[in-house]
Amino acid sequence: MVAEDSGIVVPGFFIKIYLPKRCRWIFVPVPARDTRPVRLSVRTPDFHSGKKGSIPLRVAIVFQPPPQAGVFCIKDFHSPESSAVTAQQKADRIKARKGGRRIAALTAYDYPAARLLDECGVDVLLVGDSLGMVVLGFPDTTHVTLDHMLHHVAAVARAEPKALVVGDLPIHTYDSPMRALESARRLVAAGAEAVKLEGGIRQAEKVRALTGEGIPVIGHLGMLPQRVLEEGGYHKKGKTPEQAEAIREGAEALIEAGVSAIVFESIIPATASLLTASLAVPTIGIGCGERTCDGEIAVITDLLGSFPWFVPPFARPEADLAGTTRAAVEHYVARVRG
Ligand code: KIV
Repeated sequence: MVAEDSGIVVPGFFIKIYLPKRCRWIFVPVPARDTRPVRLSVRTPDFHSGKKGSIPLRVAIVFQPPPQAGVFCIKDFHSPESSAVTAQQKADRIKARKGGRRIAALTAYDYPAARLLDECGVDVLLVGDSLGMVVLGFPDTTHVTLDHMLHHVAAVARAEPKALVVGDLPIHTYDSPMRALESARRLVAAGAEAVKLEGGIRQAEKVRALTGEGIPVIGHLGMLPQRVLEEGGYHKKGKTPEQAEAIREGAEALIEAGVSAIVFESIIPATASLLTASLAVPTIGIGCGERTCDGEIAVITDLLGSFPWFVPPFARPEADLAGTTRAAVEHYVARVRG
């Protein structure tokens, strides 16, 4: 493999390479004597015949060794043999959709869902911390840890989606710029191509730290589920001119710090439309009314009707998987018991 963009390769580091056929990552050291451009030959007994040389490598990420101790992602790049799109390119394509073809985003938490959703042409797969409720059975997202996220991001990434894979930074994993960077690097190492965090002005410095290191970031404004306990529930946002102005200031700070897009959650439709018309990056709405943003995101269980115990008022289910599952299992139980 020849890494042409050698400015990002630091001798003495490791490059992490994904072997698609084997669904696993390998670590390849970059010898300290290498200068740019770095030429690597990858020999791995479990890849093809162990042949040296140009393997169609998808994406490589450079890590400071040892990879476990403070994984240090410098920047994504891809080998010239590969036609794969880098994370930054995918994020830039989403950003370029401002005012153009609307963005269809969904949450995904596991491999089969990621494959199916990707086959349907979804633009963004968010491994949201909503997994705390709809997968792990917690009452809200404040129980989600980085380890939970890493487990599910890795599952989604194994599907090698064409869609941009975004991993949520859980609560308290981005309390400072350095902490945000450490947490985001771990999500990227698990397979996230971008990370999402909640909040506006107070997060701008953290966003700058991440984008400065080549990690694409999606913002999240309006109702912030990680603050549900302080706020005493899920309330609509942007109801007064002052609230709308505060959201705008938050959005401008995030944009200035380099976000690729911003999720708007539960902002009243008039405010969501007004802000969308004036902001420079795409807004992706949930609970903001229809066609008020540059795209929409839905929690997959709300769309499929597979989590019947709580359905948000704005959800528009397209299926009843809970009903289908119950019917199938009842038939099975009856068949087995004879
Ligand atoms: O965690 C999540 O699913 C989200 C969406 C509600 C946007 O953040």
